Amino acid sequence: MTAIQRVFSGVQPTGNLHLGNYLGAIVNFVKLQENFDCMYCVVDLHALTMPMNVWGGPEGLVRTTREVTSAFIASGIDPKKHIVFNQSQVSGHAELAWIFNCVARIGWLNRMTQFKEKAGKDRENASVGLYDYPVLMAADILVYRATHVPVGDDQKQHLELARDIAQKFNNDFGDSIRGNGFNTGLFFPQPEPLITGPATRVMSLRDGTKKMSKSDPSEYSRINLTDDADTIAQKVRKAKTDPEPLPSEEKGLEQRPEADNLVGIYAALAGKAKADVLREFGGAQFSSFKNALVDVCVTRLAPIATEMKKLMADPGYVDSVLIDGGDRARAIADETIRATKDIVGLIHKR
Ligand code: TRP
Repeated sequence: MTAIQRVFSGVQPTGNLHLGNYLGAIVNFVKLQENFDCMYCVVDLHALTMPMNVWGGPEGLVRTTREVTSAFIASGIDPKKHIVFNQSQVSGHAELAWIFNCVARIGWLNRMTQFKEKAGKDRENASVGLYDYPVLMAADILVYRATHVPVGDDQKQHLELARDIAQKFNNDFGDSIRGNGFNTGLFFPQPEPLITGPATRVMSLRDGTKKMSKSDPSEYSRINLTDDADTIAQKVRKAKTDPEPLPSEEKGLEQRPEADNLVGIYAALAGKAKADVLREFGGAQFSSFKNALVDVCVTRLAPIATEMKKLMADPGYVDSVLIDGGDRARAIADETIRATKDIVGLIHKR
């Protein structure tokens, strides 16, 4: 096993993908293909940690797994050069998660803020899987011994846990790791987060202080990746603003969350800095800025929506991509699992 730079990231198959998922994650995934071997995983086992109505039951899970896969491909992820697959196809994720369950400490998991948020008030009724979610996530990354993990800010704590697990495993089994020919004693790498750029936190179009979310009851709060040009235009035109014209400097966006959000979206989609956007539109009314915003949204997003719809109409093709990716992922994971079993002392067929 040679030390290569490998990117791994996962997206949960729950609900509609929207502009927040696109700018916050997928755009970055596309970019990283230039410099890394990338693995992009639809984490269907993670979806199961929430109540069934969240992931839509068996039919919903199949549909959204294909939808996320279609979004990856339509956005420019190349499943031939890189690996696109769904998590449950590679049993190594769950196997390594069990071993990691015995490395991670209850105290570590008790500190995870996302569990507290997701479990809500009725913590006794949350699934055991939800509690263990970060351990499975560590296994996702480390079963490929991935070195770089593009994630949003909210996943930083989970990534730190993955680093802690890797380190404790390397420590606890150090002698055995060296005894098995890994002379550095570092069997698992310390995966590094690649936190996405500044303009990528996309807020609701109805309330600039809330994150754009699939669970917002208002369809007008978000632009879905499958929205057609007319729908995109309607949503942008209805987006909440304030009465002032646009400022000409970034400082003027402070205390103006809606203006800040729309300028951020424009900048991200046009590939410009916010300061440049304001240099161009400073002093303009929102009505004219919104025309430009509709243009850039439609130019960038409508082709993706069209391609996604084509792909979703051909589930046989999408599944074949996942199966091919799963086969290639499994080959890598199996190597790690075999070595891990040797290190831990678990007898297996050679
Ligand atoms: N927890 C991640 C999220 O909700 C999804 C995820 C699962 C993931 N496994 C991962 C991300 C491994 C990066 C690496 O966004």
